[in-house]
Amino acid sequence: MIKIKSLIKTYGDQTILKDLNIKIPKGKKTTIIGQSGCGKSTLLRLILGLEKFDEGEIWVGKDCITHLSEDDLNKVRLQFGMVFQSAALFDSMTVGENVGLVLKEHTDMTREEIKERVIEKLGLVGLNDIYDAYPANLSGGMKKRVAFARAIVNNPKVLLFDEPTTGLDPVTSTRVENLINKLTKKTNATTIVVTHQISTILNVSENIVMIHDGEAIKTEGPDKILKSKNKMVYNFVNGLIK
Ligand SMILES: Nc1ncnc2c1ncn2[C@@H]1O[C@H](COP(=O)(O)OP(=O)(O)OP(=O)(O)O)[C@@H](O)[C@H]1O
Ligand SMILES: [Mg+2]
Repeated sequence: MIKIKSLIKTYGDQTILKDLNIKIPKGKKTTIIGQSGCGKSTLLRLILGLEKFDEGEIWVGKDCITHLSEDDLNKVRLQFGMVFQSAALFDSMTVGENVGLVLKEHTDMTREEIKERVIEKLGLVGLNDIYDAYPANLSGGMKKRVAFARAIVNNPKVLLFDEPTTGLDPVTSTRVENLINKLTKKTNATTIVVTHQISTILNVSENIVMIHDGEAIKTEGPDKILKSKNKMVYNFVNGLIK
């Protein structure tokens, strides 16, 4: 479904992604792991077409997004739902307005249709009766769930999560991991989760890729990764300093 081919990304004289090759299977949850600063968030921004890369190709289904115009990119982007590293809600807008924004701006849906869809998605993430609340009055875990509702409001084919559990307590983390599993099952979306939290790697992944030194290392699945035969992967998931 998503193919990254020989991708190179530089910032100034720093090469972040050197020769990155990843195949993200359709309808499955792929976790991307790797040390802080290895380029995980950058990769998500490149897949979304929010930034340009130096060389290589990114394929989303049948679309090669490498040379698309901004108009065509916008069409591809509508297939995506993204949860950013911070919840990134607009404080001046209500929960309902935040979640429905993309539908208001990019579809012909009426206000009533949008409200109905927003309430449906808030219900899916376990949030009822907060349609008119403001983000400032919500806990961190609730904001996260509002961000999830916003990401799925346009029924996306691809869901991207950037460190969805970082900074949450262990119980809230488990709830968020269960929610990711529930949402992806319900929507059949191709899902990419960027994380370095072990519980999330183990609870969510069907497929794990590690980025190291600008390249992708294919790893074992969640049942075997803690005993990985690859030394880089083993050291990373077991927190060992080489
Ligand atoms: N806009 C930018 N301009 C210059 N350098 C950048 C820019 N964005 C990211 N970088 C650099 O690229 C590298 C990769 O950053 P990125 O945010 O993708 O890492 P990450 O793997 O998501 O890290 P973390 O786990 O801490 O979130 C870092 O060294 C960062 O400083
Ligand atoms: Mg990041």
